[in-house]
Order: sequence, then C-alpha cells, then structure tokens
Amino acid sequence: MTSEAYLEWALPASDPVLARLEREAAADDIPIVTRQVAALISLLAKLIRPELIVELGTATGYSGIWLLRAWPGARLISFELDESRAASARRNLAEAGVGDRADVRTTNAIQGLEGLPPGSADLVFNDVLNGLRSAGRVEHCFRLARDVLKPGGLLLADNALEAGRLSGHETLQARCVHRWNELVRVDRSLTATILPIGDGLSVAVRS
Ligand SMILES: C[S@@+](CC[C@H](N)C(=O)[O-])C[C@H]1O[C@@H](n2cnc3c(N)ncnc32)[C@H](O)[C@@H]1O
Repeated sequence: MTSEAYLEWALPASDPVLARLEREAAADDIPIVTRQVAALISLLAKLIRPELIVELGTATGYSGIWLLRAWPGARLISFELDESRAASARRNLAEAGVGDRADVRTTNAIQGLEGLPPGSADLVFNDVLNGLRSAGRVEHCFRLARDVLKPGGLLLADNALEAGRLSGHETLQARCVHRWNELVRVDRSLTATILPIGDGLSVAVRS
C-alpha cells in the first residue's frame, strides 16, 4: 500500500451524503476540500467547541457538513456567491441532518464579513482564498476575518500553497495567496503555520 493510500485508509469513512458530494464534486469540477483537509478542520473544530463558525465559500456544503458534525453546539454562517450552489448546499446540509444549524447566505464573502460583529466567531474558514483576485481584497478580507474572531479563535484557509505556484508569485492568484500567508505570518495577534495537506492549509490561532 502506498503512503497516500494508507493516509486515505486512516480517515473516517464518508457516509452516503458525503460520498455523494465527493462523487458530484469530481464529476462537476466543484473544488471542495480534500478528505484529509475535511478531517483536520473537523478535528480542530471539535477541539475548540465552537459556538459560531464562519465559512467563506460554501460550494455544495461539503466542508460545512464536516464542520457542523464536529460539534453539536456549533452554528454555521457560510457565504456563497453562486445561487445554485448555495441552494444545493442548503439541501445537502439538511439531508446531512445539520440544516437547522446552517445559515447559507448568497452574498460576497467580504460583504458578509462586514455585516458580522467583531469578536463574534470561534472559527473562520476561508475557502475563497484563490478567488479574491486583488491584493486589496485579500488585505480587507484578512482584517475582517481576523477581527471577527474571538480571542482563542481559529483562522483557517485552504489552498495556502496554491498548487505549488507560490515560489515565483507569477500569477495574480499566487500573489494573492502569498499576500494572505504574509499577513498571517507577520500579524502579532496570530500564531500560525501552513500544513502541507491537500493544497496547503493555513492554520492560525488568535491571541
Ligand atoms: C473552494 S470552493 C468552496 C468549497 C467548500 N468550502 C467545500 O470544501 O465544500 C469556493 C466557493 O466559493 C465561491 N466564491 C468564490 N469567491 C467568492 C466570494 N468572494 N464570496 C463568496 N463566495 C465566493 C465559489 O462560487 C465556490 O463555490
């Protein structure tokens, strides 16, 4: 067995809803988190027992289901620009048995964050990092996401390695992802690292 197959074996099995979303994401090219990233964000959520989780980028609700199943006391506010994805996420979250704790808002994640009170969230999961498309938007999104966290809250971002394209910063996406990583690295209120799983998961805790 390869190490990759062994790591896959070590993950919790997907139930029928998650397995269907994994098949649909592969068939329809929907960029959901890998099972390894899903298992890790769920473990981190379980550790901190969140009341409020904020997600930027719902897609079809896959990562939201993992996060909400991690802790029964958690509520999720998740922002998704695409109306049909948001509608399908609401159906999927309901089918997974967590729909009553999920609030999927069809809006831009930055505008959504602007509407939340500072210090109100225990965990922010940024899954639109490689879609922000300007350094200014990355900086604005970073400040809002950091400030919406309570002390001790977790700031997570997927695609922090941007498929290995970061070293030369040659694309706009790579420059934006690098800018996020830089902001996280130098912020004195955050203790952070990047884990090389999936496309890279940035993990930071706010003091
Ligand atoms: C990587 S996918 C999210 C995957 C999801 N978190 C999961 O793992 O199941 C990113 C999603 O964010 C949406 N999106 C991109 N930019 C956005 C923005 N600025 N605000 C809200 N949603 C956005 C896209 O339509 C896409 O569905």
